Amino acid sequence: MQMGIEQNQGGRKGKGSSESRKSNRRQKKPSPVQRLYDTCKEVFADCGPGVVPSPEKVERLAAVLDGITPADVGLRPNQPYFSSERAPIISYLPLHAGDNFSIGIFCLPPVSVIPLHNHPAMTVFSKLLFGTMHIKAYDWSNEADGNAIVVQPNGSRLAKLKINSTFTAPCSTSILYPADGGNMHCFTAGTACAVLDVLGPPYSDDDGRHCQYYYELPLATSRGELEEEERERYAWLKEREKPRDLCILGVPYDGPKILKK
Ligand SMILES: [Fe+2]
Repeated sequence: MQMGIEQNQGGRKGKGSSESRKSNRRQKKPSPVQRLYDTCKEVFADCGPGVVPSPEKVERLAAVLDGITPADVGLRPNQPYFSSERAPIISYLPLHAGDNFSIGIFCLPPVSVIPLHNHPAMTVFSKLLFGTMHIKAYDWSNEADGNAIVVQPNGSRLAKLKINSTFTAPCSTSILYPADGGNMHCFTAGTACAVLDVLGPPYSDDDGRHCQYYYELPLATSRGELEEEERERYAWLKEREKPRDLCILGVPYDGPKILKK
């Protein structure tokens, strides 16, 4: 997988699956995850790299994600994925991986970090299911007041800070776009937390949508006329290899089933 997610073939026991099957049979309307999958299928049907769904579709998908709870995807905060002893290993539960979109859940133990990385030509929806998480996010900048250089000789590129806040669930779904909304972001778990992510389209090395990681360098060495506060709104981002200490382990999803039509 393109974020460097390692596969865990061990899997989990199917605890809870038969319960969810029974409850699905009783339900007339689709389960929340089924509704999420069906909505993604419609929303991303006519999209492709760099093509953002219409505002109406973005709003519709965000509304579906806003209503998803940890129980809807079979998660409980006391599961081993979230234990401090597991840190810094992050678990990734794939719900769907297709050409147009992917759905998955990142399970972060306390203080674990998904370092600064990009989402090339993608629209990404992130719903914090539980816990507290700090998000720092940048977009590329073509200009900074009083600073004409946007690419340095060492290849680092000027970026503008878009988000630098701590979020606690329940909170609204956050959305990033190919060129704005904080396309490069870093997640830091304040407490154990889980994030449900929808990517449209997904990463694809074959199609040139590689997950790139970055170093974040302060703007302090640039021209002196910028006020300190203004300087903090910008940074130089320099490409780096996937951090060696980053471990994202793929684990089979065994929450409520999704019928993929
Ligand atoms: Fe991301």
